[in-house]
Amino acid sequence: MKLTKLFILLFPLLSFALGVNAQQSEGEDAAVASIASNELILVGGATGQTGRLVVQLLREQGYRVRGLTRDKESAIKQFGTEIEWVEADVRNPDTLQPAFDGVNKFISAIGASNRDPENGPEQVNYIGVKNLVDAAKSNRVKRFVLMSSRSVERAVNDLNQAPNDPLIWRFKGEEYLRNSGLVYSVVRASGLRNSLGGENGVLLSQTDESGLRYVTRADVAAVMVECLANPDARGKTFKVFNVLADDPESWRDDFAELQTD
Ligand SMILES: NC(=O)c1ccc[n+]([C@@H]2O[C@H](COP(=O)([O-])OP(=O)(O)OC[C@H]3O[C@@H](n4cnc5c(N)ncnc54)[C@H](OP(=O)(O)O)[C@@H]3O)[C@@H](O)[C@H]2O)c1
Repeated sequence: MKLTKLFILLFPLLSFALGVNAQQSEGEDAAVASIASNELILVGGATGQTGRLVVQLLREQGYRVRGLTRDKESAIKQFGTEIEWVEADVRNPDTLQPAFDGVNKFISAIGASNRDPENGPEQVNYIGVKNLVDAAKSNRVKRFVLMSSRSVERAVNDLNQAPNDPLIWRFKGEEYLRNSGLVYSVVRASGLRNSLGGENGVLLSQTDESGLRYVTRADVAAVMVECLANPDARGKTFKVFNVLADDPESWRDDFAELQTD
């Protein structure tokens, strides 16, 4: 058995015996931190296809979870009351203050709507992210993990060609977070798929990739949850792709190789 795994199994016992404070998880081994933590995690987009997988993983790892939704009644109807729900809209900063009350860390899997022009890329991916960042800052949130899109690069690489590309708003949202002073990770997902997670490898990349690449929502969720506690994920923007790999879990050790922004 690997030493880390042995430590994970023994940690609760050791911490009880030694009187170690489980809250002192910052900078500790990621897996140990997630198991030992009693932190409250706010999940933006908790009703969405990726966000609900984030919620599931967090619960499996023993975190306390609060889901953010624009319609609490509908969220409870669909997902029940196993987690706490809070009603908020990223376009309205007043609703975000209570949502962040007591929150230690935040993951956003929020996405703009294609159908509702009042909830489009500028309002959600830029103004909404800005409002989330401000609320996280004023509540001293320790980690902010933002789900973004690989395609942001397409627009950003040629700003002159793409002044009206909706992806520019996503980039502006990312930039606001990068310049906020918060401890963050920006996870740029490639084309999302709903197949099972943990079946293929995951590539964390900061280079230009060409051709079509995909990633399962479950693997994106796993990467974002890992970012909450892994010290090597701090202050980094990177893309995630599925790749063939002998060990589907080896990506967890790859954060250290990524450049800080
Ligand atoms: N499709 C792709 O291939 C692809 C690739 C890379 C990245 N992405 C991005 O990945 C993210 C997640 O995708 P997904 O398909 O999992 O999302 P999804 O199922 O469409 O869920 C979107 C979530 O955003 C929330 N939301 C929307 N507007 C909001 C607002 N104004 N205030 C608060 N919450 C709001 C919704 O919550 P309520 O309705 O409960 O309020 C919902 O939970 C999106 O940003 C998407 O653009 C997609």
